[in-house]
Amino acid sequence: MIPKDFIADLITRVDIIDVVGDRIKLKKNGANYTACCPFHNEKTPSFTVSQSKQFYYCFGCGAHGNAISFLMEYDKLDFVSAIENLAAKVGLEVPREKDAGRVQDSSLINLLGDVSKFYVRQLKHSNNAIEYLKQRGLDGHVCRDFNIGFAPDSWDSLLNNFKHNKNGLSRAGLLVENKQKSYDRFRNRIIFPIKNHRGQVIAFGGRALGDSLPKYLNSPETELFHKGSELYGLFEARLAHKNLPYLFVVEGYMDVVALAQHEIKCAVATLGTSVTENHVRKLFRYTEKIIFCFDGDKAGRKAAWRALENTLSLMHDGVEVLFLFLPEGEDPDSQVRKEGKDRFLHRIKNAMPLSDFFYQELMSDINVTTMAGRAQLSDKAISLLNVIPAGVFQQLMFEKLASIVHMDVDVLLNQRIASYGGREISTNKAPSALPKLLRLALGLLLREPSLAHHIADSEQLLCINLPQIKLLFEVITIMKQHDGLTVGGVLQLFEGGNRQLLASIASDETIILLEDLQSEFLDTINSLYALGREQIIAELLNKSRSKTISQEEREHLQRLIKETKLVLNA
Ligand code: UTP
Ligand code: MN
Repeated sequence: MIPKDFIADLITRVDIIDVVGDRIKLKKNGANYTACCPFHNEKTPSFTVSQSKQFYYCFGCGAHGNAISFLMEYDKLDFVSAIENLAAKVGLEVPREKDAGRVQDSSLINLLGDVSKFYVRQLKHSNNAIEYLKQRGLDGHVCRDFNIGFAPDSWDSLLNNFKHNKNGLSRAGLLVENKQKSYDRFRNRIIFPIKNHRGQVIAFGGRALGDSLPKYLNSPETELFHKGSELYGLFEARLAHKNLPYLFVVEGYMDVVALAQHEIKCAVATLGTSVTENHVRKLFRYTEKIIFCFDGDKAGRKAAWRALENTLSLMHDGVEVLFLFLPEGEDPDSQVRKEGKDRFLHRIKNAMPLSDFFYQELMSDINVTTMAGRAQLSDKAISLLNVIPAGVFQQLMFEKLASIVHMDVDVLLNQRIASYGGREISTNKAPSALPKLLRLALGLLLREPSLAHHIADSEQLLCINLPQIKLLFEVITIMKQHDGLTVGGVLQLFEGGNRQLLASIASDETIILLEDLQSEFLDTINSLYALGREQIIAELLNKSRSKTISQEEREHLQRLIKETKLVLNA
């Protein structure tokens, strides 16, 4: 028996976006996140997760629920195990009936919060540490924003101050333990607390004051802290900006803090590891533009290439990735101190788009003036480009390759298909049931008929190859013609199957629960248009593969590709 209060508390502490996002790839889409539904087979995403409602819903199969039910379904757990799993994630111990109501003094998260406050207090008492931070150009404000602290030069300051919870210190990775004794992990170091998406401290990084080694020490992996998906400074960046136009990814704690000191409050750092796919996925939840910022030296370019490799599979149309290489020997910290905010930010203008860096690196050790070299390049490139999600960006990358190796893009695409093992790219996505996007669009219109006025050119909808698209067109037309029509009034204008269908959609409780109707509706319509474009592009690409494309169609294809806002620097 788990107390109800505990479950309620747990649900407010976990973020469903993280729970789902740890298991399937989520893409931000307006106010919500979407993905292909993990509970039924589908090719276009109809699985939606709402952060504000902490609720998921699949417009395709109807699966719905909260973080607990998601875990039960997805990880095939029973209720209690799902609760335990979530509780561990946020550092809570699941109370059982007999100790129900007892204060959660064992909560790891609380302990880490207290330890962080302890380190901040210690900083105030250490002239050495304050002097060090000053000398590195940091003022009190920025230290407060990042809760920078100091671990005293002592083997047992935590052990003494948190006597009652040695077990917690150990679980949080704050002790070094061996057979004989245990002692504080962080000693005589500047402390950078690492926070999760809610700003709760989950780990620490510590920098030596002088030249002692190692220069940086990080918390080990714990139940709360996974290096491969956490980013230092992400919480602070989100706090500083309502919407993040872009995020810098830098290498060090000091780089993040120094940039913030210069009013560039949108930098995050990996924690002594290279950039992983998990990192990138997380970043794309909060921004559509990532600027990797590395040293211009060999090591920096190598790190950048690894970041690129782990980014390719997430290059959906609409996202942008740049590489900013600093002069040799400089890092963002030293560079921004040298030249200040404006000149530093000006460097973004000359940053390298992912596409350029991709080909520049690949070509760096291949001689493309020879045929063998070009063949080698195309082999290497194709296997990497296949990882990019199908779409305009991928197509443009293939076109660029075609121009470099002097080959027809169709021939390259054929090669790609060969490397897929002959698997066909299917163009007919027509499911027999009412497509989810249509259902959603209709449901929103039935809830708020005035939404119809947002659609200027509804005839364009008819170009989309979906069963029942005509019904949507008719509903929009009717609603535009008759202001103030009620759902009953709309139903009156339809007969038979369509009337029944609309009635069932109008009573769909998941649509009734939606909040921001206008943005939901615009998102839905945009997705429909995008689907239409995708269908035509896919169809034309197939034609071009089978060499049955006409000149006119080829031009249409090129136009469609141009129309999208993505422009590669050719
Ligand atoms: P750098 O060696 O580039 O240091 O490490 P830095 O950030 O420029 O540090 P300052 O300016 O000398 O203070 C970059 C990052 O690599 C990890 C840390 O996360 C650091 O911020 N690192 C580095 C370690 O984990 N351990 C180390 O010993 C060194
Ligand atoms: Mn540095």
